[in-house]
Amino acid sequence: MSEGAAKKEERRKFQAIKGTRDILPPETALWNRVEQTAHEVFATFGFGEIRLPVIETLGLFARSLGTETDIVGKEMFLLAEREPSVVVHPGRFGPPPQSEQERRDEVERVFSEPSMRESIEQQIEESVLALRPEATASVCRAYIEHSMQQLPQPVKLYCIGPMFRRERPQKGRYRQFYQIDAEVLGGTDAPAIDAEVIEMVMTFFERLGLEGVQLDINCIGDKKCRPKYVELLRAELSKVKDKLGPDSQRRIETNPLRVLDSRLESEQKLIEAMPHIADHLCEECAENYRGVKKELELRGVKYRENWRLVRGLDYYMRTTFEITAPGLGSQNAVCGGGRYDGLMELLGGPPTKGIGFAIGEDRLILSLLETGHSPLATRHSPLLYIAWMGEKAYATAIRAAKNLRNAGFSVELPPVEQKFGKALGQADKLGARFALILGDNEVTSGQWTLKTLADGKQEKLRESDLVEHLKKQL
Ligand code: HAM
Repeated sequence: MSEGAAKKEERRKFQAIKGTRDILPPETALWNRVEQTAHEVFATFGFGEIRLPVIETLGLFARSLGTETDIVGKEMFLLAEREPSVVVHPGRFGPPPQSEQERRDEVERVFSEPSMRESIEQQIEESVLALRPEATASVCRAYIEHSMQQLPQPVKLYCIGPMFRRERPQKGRYRQFYQIDAEVLGGTDAPAIDAEVIEMVMTFFERLGLEGVQLDINCIGDKKCRPKYVELLRAELSKVKDKLGPDSQRRIETNPLRVLDSRLESEQKLIEAMPHIADHLCEECAENYRGVKKELELRGVKYRENWRLVRGLDYYMRTTFEITAPGLGSQNAVCGGGRYDGLMELLGGPPTKGIGFAIGEDRLILSLLETGHSPLATRHSPLLYIAWMGEKAYATAIRAAKNLRNAGFSVELPPVEQKFGKALGQADKLGARFALILGDNEVTSGQWTLKTLADGKQEKLRESDLVEHLKKQL
């Protein structure tokens, strides 16, 4: 290494990579409160926690979410574990190609053969690994892998953890973000199931004190009625194609429903004039949608119907929903979900109903912070600071810290001796409520001094009375 390069290396600062971030105390205390509340609320609805790997084969996501979706098409973090064993055999139909051009022509010809293409794609999907962009596909994979159809149905599962999407980072949008995901698998597709899943997430937000949330719902039909609507929409969009932006123009071909998602100002008027799916549902879907709305009303869950809510993933059918929260700017969807009957079969499993949602935990925390929920309220400050001086007092202080922590109190024990004045100042800075003062006098007399830091009040206590005394103060 040259001297210059060595110097540069010395100065090099390591930073979290684009779109990822460190979450620090005291904010982590709020994350813990949110997750603890999820564990508690979800358990009251009969959900059990599942822990999943963060890497899966690319094929699992390509098959579940759809290859034309933004996530699979451009946002996956891929890891090539082993090279796909794809060989475009040069001499398959004759002598090996003589030139680079001939070789290219051969590759193109093989890729344009549908059966060859499929087999190559399958090999790539199986040998390439992906950091998971969402959890639903993995939950379904696990349901099949562990034969959960043999358990009493439905199986209700939730998981909390990081997801990865190579998106353009901005407020509320990260490349590593966290989801709280819940899924109900198997059993019936009775509208009460959809409504209860939505009721659960609304209860969770309420328990956290998150105010100003807005629930939007829609029904996007099923295999029977949606294709006809998609064709109608495609035809109508084609009539105004020239006035649409490049993304929407492309989507007319690949996935016209996604055009309804567009937020491009210039397209809004045109989109508003498009046919509504509610007018094109088959009788079963229309009946199911009426049922879901009735069940929500029975539960006192307030909703708004939004015919443009189609969601960005291919696996959805019938009920879709999204929840927005205040204080988030343009990335204001804090939860998205819907029904996905048929996904399990697509992954090689038995016919199984499915519905679920995922909450963006980063956005949820951001919204809580922006609407005045201080992380300091849940901050893990020590309840008690032990100000000790002298060798004998130190041994007593260690014993006191051990007993108090065993009783569940948070205790700060300074590792080196400090003058009492300095120790009390430190206790104040850390936000401790009490200081336990242990000097020679206290140790000899067996009467310990407990100081309440807010008002400076001092009390004398025996060691054996301390725990009970503190419990009464809480
Ligand atoms: P999704 O709408 O792609 O749905 O994501 C759900 C939520 O994750 C979003 O509403 C948002 O809060 C959060 N989120 C998504 N991308 C990011 C990002 N880049 N940065 C921060 N937060 C983000 C799903 O993932 C489905 N699997 C939900 C589901 C479960 N449907 C049925 N079951």
